[in-house]
Amino acid sequence: MADTKQIKLDAIAKQIVADKVTPDLAKTATQLVFGDGNPSAEVVLIGEAPGKNEDVQGKPFVGAAGQFLNDMLEMIGLKRQDVYITNIVKYRPPDNRDPFPEEKQAFLPYLESQLEVIQPLIIVTLGRHSLNCFLPDLQISQVHGQPKRYKGRIYLPMFHPAAALYNGAMRQTLIDDFALIPTVIKKINDKT
Ligand code: URA
Repeated sequence: MADTKQIKLDAIAKQIVADKVTPDLAKTATQLVFGDGNPSAEVVLIGEAPGKNEDVQGKPFVGAAGQFLNDMLEMIGLKRQDVYITNIVKYRPPDNRDPFPEEKQAFLPYLESQLEVIQPLIIVTLGRHSLNCFLPDLQISQVHGQPKRYKGRIYLPMFHPAAALYNGAMRQTLIDDFALIPTVIKKINDKT
């Protein structure tokens, strides 16, 4: 099962390159940063776009924010290999600028395909870019830590780990929000 899913995910990654999605970003980036982790994960975490470290290593969340993410996963008894991690935009924007709306839009069909393959129980959106790709009318400051059911999926919005790295209060909020993940999963599993 996981193997079949991985094959399908690999095909989506190849398709992004073949379709020449965001050619300007592709030109300045080192490589595509498609996603990493368990293709049968119950939890998919979605960030914004790769940064410098991710661009070099070809994997999402491998820098300082990624280390914090790993720590928070460990706090709830999960490893990176248990979840699937990806970004909205899959090439590094130059100088880590915010991705443009049209860049986010261009990757959305591929992200949707990724989610179709993985079929997670919950989608954890990291930061406002990720939240607003799926739920455009919500404000991260108001809805973080609150599961939202929308079009058959359950989203759990959270602040971006990079924003919380040097902000003690936000860091604790993010840790508290992360701690909700097992409870949300259990509630879903109990209902189904
Ligand atoms: N920030 C993100 O949004 N994604 C990454 O992969 C790394 C940092």
